[in-house]
Order: sequence, then structure tokens, then C-alpha cells
Amino acid sequence: MRKLEWAGHSLPVIGQGTWGMGEQRARRTAEVDALRLGVSLGMTVLNTAEIYGAGGAEEVVGEAIKDCRQDVFVVTKVWPSQARAKDVESSVRASCQRMRTDHADLVLLHWPTHSVPLEETVSALRRVRAAGLARHVGVSNFDVPWLEMLRRCEEQPGEFGANEVPYSLGQRGIEQGVLQEAEGSGRLVLAYSPLAHGRYGRWQESAALRAAADAHGGSPLQVALAWTVQRDGVVAIPKAVSPEHVRANAAAGEIVLSAAEMDAIAQDFPGSRQPYRPSLPPSLAVHRLAYGAIRLQRRLRG
Ligand SMILES: NC(=O)c1ccc[n+]([C@@H]2O[C@H](COP(=O)([O-])OP(=O)(O)OC[C@H]3O[C@@H](n4cnc5c(N)ncnc54)[C@H](OP(=O)(O)O)[C@@H]3O)[C@@H](O)[C@H]2O)c1
Repeated sequence: MRKLEWAGHSLPVIGQGTWGMGEQRARRTAEVDALRLGVSLGMTVLNTAEIYGAGGAEEVVGEAIKDCRQDVFVVTKVWPSQARAKDVESSVRASCQRMRTDHADLVLLHWPTHSVPLEETVSALRRVRAAGLARHVGVSNFDVPWLEMLRRCEEQPGEFGANEVPYSLGQRGIEQGVLQEAEGSGRLVLAYSPLAHGRYGRWQESAALRAAADAHGGSPLQVALAWTVQRDGVVAIPKAVSPEHVRANAAAGEIVLSAAEMDAIAQDFPGSRQPYRPSLPPSLAVHRLAYGAIRLQRRLRG
């Protein structure tokens, strides 16, 4: 597994996502086993959020890391309805409790919101870090205008050291500004949905992916995943429960593509030239509604 250096950590270029985990008791053992297998193969960055499975995904992470906490780098996220100063710390404490740890390695604001001043959330996350509940803090789904706002709140450039954003062959909008901002500020980019949330059917027909796969002894999908992490400073976080998928993703972390292969792939997947914009309307009402629905789901699940 290739690694990159960030903020004193040596991180694998491929980690593991957990969206969709922790929703059904019957699937829990398979999910825990998948994360543990991934960790054993070097995918030690585990990405979760309080909203996933109404906290269920954090519980899956907690179960998976209970005897290897020191070997993993845990990322979780605060939902925007909890972005007020009075709510951030209790949210992160609850996340840590579900993950059976006294701290997260990285805590992110999940989505920007116009309803809570960014300065307020930034200060609250700083307090979370000072209290030892998070080693690092950052953001998610921040486009260039939001990153400009963030820079105005930071005590030093890149203080909020990571931005988790969508990046795959089908979604290349962060190449229009977000990646460049990250390179300039030293912000880690966590590339989410690198396999298009499973909607990668057409990719397998790409001649460029097929040729690179043959050259590297992998599959077109492994090359597609490897493509997302060829730039320094990017860690991709595919989610996989199937053990074959977990193994394939870990192996993709070894693939280094040539400039010619990158060019050929870019021609097959030109993508839209539109810069990335967060897709969820950044209104607190929407975030509260989502949070309420998720909490209800959790109560009904018992
Ligand atoms: N910050 C945010 O707002 C945000 C938004 C979306 C996602 N995320 C994070 O990013 C993570 C990944 O994104 P995602 O869950 O949307 O989707 P994804 O990782 O792009 O795709 C997941 C799907 O691909 C399948 N898969 C995984 N590896 C595969 C392989 N090697 N070959 C074939 N199929 C494979 C999985 O199947 P199986 O599970 O059956 O193995 C699953 O159906 C999330 O879990 C979450 O942690 C963050």
C-alpha cells in the first residue's frame, strides 16, 4: 500500500468508507469483518459520520477497532444541525463513545451551512481539538467559495487540515479549484464515492482502463480507484463489505499509473468542466429534518 505524509502521519492512499453500514443488525458481523480485513491489508483510514446509520456506522467502527485502536486513523463528521457552539462538543463525545475511543483522529464539519456562522463552528471544533477529543479538525463538501470563507476563519492556512469531497472518474469537479486549494494550503483531500457509489457499470467498458489493468495485472475498477490517488495529498475512501472488494481495493493502493495511462484515461472520462458545488442545499431546516429522521430511525431500531 502506497502512503503519503500528512500532519506527522503516514497514511495509506486508500482507506475505507462506512456509509450504509450499521443500518441492519443482520449485516453487522460482515461489516465489522470487512473493516478488520481492510485494516489488516493496510487500509487503516476509517471514514464515518454521526449521521451514517444514525450512529450505527460508528458502532461498527468501534467494534472493528476495539483491539487495534492504535493502528487506525479514525475520521468522523459532525452533521450541520449540530454545528452550533453548544452542540459540537457533545456530538463529538457521543461519536467517540459509539466508536469506543476517547478521541477521533480527525473530526470534520460534514456539510457547509448558511444557518450557523462558520466562525462559530470553527471555534467550537477548535475547542474539541483543545479538549483532546480530536487530534485534527477539518471540513467536508467545501467548494472554492466556502474554502475562501474557511481561510478567513483560520488562525493559520490549512489549520482545518482536510476537506472530504466527491472524486471519481465520473465526478471530476474538484479538479476545478478544490484540489489546487488543497495543494496550496496543505489540506488533505479525502476522496469520497471513488467508485461512484457502485454506479461504475460503464467504466468497465473503457479501453484505457482495460489497457492499464492488463499492464498492471489488475481490473479496470482497480485502475479507476488508483486513478483517484495519483496526486499527492489525496486519500480515497471506498466503501466495501464484500471481502473480494476489500482485497481488490487494498491492492489498488499499489498501482502507479504512467503519464500516458493517465492521459488515455482522462480522454475516456473527460467529465464535466463544471467546478464542484455541494449538492445538498445548505439550509439548516433540511439538515435538521434529515437528523430528526435519522434519530427516529435509530429509536425504532432500538
Ligand atoms: N462527506 C460526505 O458527504 C460523503 C458522501 C458520500 C460518501 N462519503 C464517504 O465515502 C465513502 C465511499 O463512498 P460511497 O459509499 O458513496 O461509495 P463508493 O465507495 O464509491 O462505492 C461503494 C459501492 O461500490 C462497491 N465496491 C466497493 N469496492 C468495489 C470493488 N473493488 N469492485 C466492485 N465494487 C466495489 C461496494 O459494494 P459492497 O459494499 O457490496 O462491497 C458498494 O456498492 C462512504 O462510505 C463514506 O464514508 C462521504
